[in-house]
Amino acid sequence: MVLEAIRYNDGKLSIIDQLQLPFVEHYFEIQTSEDGWQAIKKMQVRGAPAIAIVAALSLASELQALVKANTLPSKAEEAEAFIIERLKYLVSSRPTAVNLSDAAGKLQDTVSKRLKTPKSTAKDVANAFIQAAEAMLAKDVEDNTRIGDNGAKWILANALSSQRGSATVLTHCNTGSLATAGYGTALGVIRSLHSSHALQHAYCTETRPYNQGSRLTAFELVHDNIPATLVTDSMAAALLSRTEGRVNAIVVGADRVAANGDTANKIGTYGLAVLAKYHRVKFLVAAPLTTIDLATKSGNDIIIEERPASEVTRIKGSQEDDITGDSKLGTVRIAADGINVWNPAFDVTPAELIDGIITEKGVAERGPDGQFHLDGLFE
Ligand code: MRU
Repeated sequence: MVLEAIRYNDGKLSIIDQLQLPFVEHYFEIQTSEDGWQAIKKMQVRGAPAIAIVAALSLASELQALVKANTLPSKAEEAEAFIIERLKYLVSSRPTAVNLSDAAGKLQDTVSKRLKTPKSTAKDVANAFIQAAEAMLAKDVEDNTRIGDNGAKWILANALSSQRGSATVLTHCNTGSLATAGYGTALGVIRSLHSSHALQHAYCTETRPYNQGSRLTAFELVHDNIPATLVTDSMAAALLSRTEGRVNAIVVGADRVAANGDTANKIGTYGLAVLAKYHRVKFLVAAPLTTIDLATKSGNDIIIEERPASEVTRIKGSQEDDITGDSKLGTVRIAADGINVWNPAFDVTPAELIDGIITEKGVAERGPDGQFHLDGLFE
């Protein structure tokens, strides 16, 4: 059975609660843009493409309900203003991933265009939004499948030192079905290698402090029967230094790729890229074009979200009763009370450490000048 993090049908949106994974598979309904904002902020849904899609569909669901109840603002201009205000609000939920603001900009263009069509009603404007939001869901899955195949081909052609024909890949954070509309980006590359019998082994990092690797990626790898091993973040250097069962490539996702290729992704990505350089392991970023932000010149211009201290000082998990063996979800404290905490959710990997950016259009490599020229991907 395919893992579905986002379920949407005719104005009814429900998502799996990622705060409870991998212990409880619980879906809950998102009826309004307010529900969508809360779910994104609390990280019940996370991952750059998934955030954008849930935001768009949360507003689509709200509009669908208003259309059905005949309670949309009466004028087309008012419907447009309502949508624009709601989109602005949704974009304020998390700042680093560009997919959300990219989606909001495209959806705003769609409704503004519809408004300019003579005799457009408020319902026409709302329906134009709903259709465009629904199309984003379908397109993301298509793009991810292409990213997966492009990345798998690139790795087999460029990252294997022997004629072995199968690759061992390390990934960080969660970039799979849970972080996208389905299939995944970096995890999509691993899925594609696996489905063509070209995956020797996958490693996933724990990804402290929020444990997207041990909770979510490990869950997806087990779910799909992909041969995989979990390591803590601090084990990556030792793993890369091994000659037996050598890691051929590190593949990660992205929250925002700047015009020069500098990439913001989950905290810890930068460290892995430095390690990859030292150990001569290929380092790849897998991301749809919606994650590439040509308006942001370099990594220096990317806003890095800082998250609450409690994510570092506490950990959520399945608590087991030593005597009865019963388990329940719970939170435990793991740090000394009173300690200061710095909790940046992302870091920026400089372009010079990246061997390729895998997109649905192909794999961009640095040119003879040592620079990425990503604008070519949009032609
Ligand atoms: O804080 P998160 O869990 O939303 O961070 C997710 C990541 O950093 C992913 O690598 C990125 O969004 C790409 S998901 C396809």
